[in-house]
Amino acid sequence: MNIPKLNIVILAAGLGKRMHSALPKVLHRLAGKPLLAHVLDTARALSPQKICIIYGHGGETVPQAIADETLTWVQQVPQLGTGHALMQALPYLGTEGMTLVLYGDVPLTRVDTLQKLIAMGDGETGNAEMGRGETLALLTVELTNPSGYGRIVRSDAGKIAAIVEEKDASKSQRHIREINTGIMVIPNRWLHGWLHKLENNNAQKEYYLTDVVAMAVKDGLDVEAAHPGHGWETIGINSKVQLAELERIHQHESAQKLLEQGITLADPSRIDIRGQLVCGRDVEIDINCIFEGRVQLGDGVKVGAHSILKDATVAAGSAIAPFSLIESAEIGKNCRIGPYARIRPGTSLDNEVHIGNFVEVKNSAIAAGSKANHLSYIGDAVVGKSVNIGAGTITCNYDGANKHQTIIEDDVFVGSDTQLIAPVKVAQGSTIGAGSTITKDTPPEMLTLSRARQMSIDGWKRPVKKPKGQK
Ligand code: UD1
Ligand code: CA
Repeated sequence: MNIPKLNIVILAAGLGKRMHSALPKVLHRLAGKPLLAHVLDTARALSPQKICIIYGHGGETVPQAIADETLTWVQQVPQLGTGHALMQALPYLGTEGMTLVLYGDVPLTRVDTLQKLIAMGDGETGNAEMGRGETLALLTVELTNPSGYGRIVRSDAGKIAAIVEEKDASKSQRHIREINTGIMVIPNRWLHGWLHKLENNNAQKEYYLTDVVAMAVKDGLDVEAAHPGHGWETIGINSKVQLAELERIHQHESAQKLLEQGITLADPSRIDIRGQLVCGRDVEIDINCIFEGRVQLGDGVKVGAHSILKDATVAAGSAIAPFSLIESAEIGKNCRIGPYARIRPGTSLDNEVHIGNFVEVKNSAIAAGSKANHLSYIGDAVVGKSVNIGAGTITCNYDGANKHQTIIEDDVFVGSDTQLIAPVKVAQGSTIGAGSTITKDTPPEMLTLSRARQMSIDGWKRPVKKPKGQK
């Protein structure tokens, strides 16, 4: 949906005092992403003409953290209420089209809910003529416990008449369970005039945006309400308690989506997705795995318990055993990784590679069928096909100043406990004797070793302990 002349204003100037944090509230993270970034993603999905963000507390840290040149940032100092906040955006809003007001601390509103609200504001429902821009559309919900929220006051005929803030509400108004989520679509033609008329003669001495509702009714506009499909869509964050609750709700939703796509989750309440997880068919994920950034799992991939994958691709048929960490890496088909493997950025493994326990691989390419199954460090290396890297092998890639490359060609066998001092090349078909320190390139197809020759001393006696008291 691309609504011509849709502006979006995100109110994000709140202090967030109850977070008890130095970080501005809207920069606290839900599913690994700042609250404000969630709202922005939703806003962008609506393809508006302009997105304007009202920020306050935290000064420039908020625009710096988001860093997007296409956004219009307006600082609101001091903060005199939601109406005052929107007033700051007025120079950037035209007199045609409409403005959608969102909140920087309400992260999970769905795009389709807002599309419904925008369509309503555009006069597609209700009594207004199509596109007349004569409808004020509010997103409202019914709550069993409405305390703290502005109440939607309706006439006897059921028409919305006003929003009354709790602190200003009469006893009977406080019984109203339909509340204002704060999210609304306002016709720009009226917005300027209404905001200039706002007054702060209320309980909180603030300029309430909600006062535009009564003004709209007075000016003969339709005021309509749309409702979100889910209760969590309009939950705002004021404290770490609420942040943790919404995180769980969001993770539950993400897990539910995966189950619906046919992914097997050992326990949908024990998975955390902080980004995008794309899965093929018959993927199985054990408990307590974390997926960050963009992770892609091919058909039949199995991820063992307690594994963490970040910005990684794992091709079909590969199995990640428990407690493995994979970051910014590509894993080919039918690989076996872990348990306790660490695959670091810049690594790409071809098909059928085995990386076993306590093996760290960094910035290396390993070709098909090669194995490093135990206790190794492979850094800045290019490893050929069908290579066997013995237990405890280390590529010594760092000389204290610079990093150097190790090249291991096809069909090499590296004996256990070998140090390969980079830069060095182990040629095709080489065998390295266990315990060697390799400082020079090796010739192909030969056994190379560097270690003291074994000897045995005949007649040698072990020392014995002297009896007590004897000198
Ligand atoms: C507001 C609504 C209330 C609604 C509730 C939903 C008004 C007057 N009241 O009340 O009807 O039920 O939200 O949560 O609008 N903000 C600014 N600048 C300001 C003041 C607020 O940017 O000067 C931002 C805050 O960062 C926050 C949002 O606006 O994201 C709401 O402000 P808040 O003070 O929490 O409003 P409520 O009193 O909760
Ligand atoms: Ca609030």
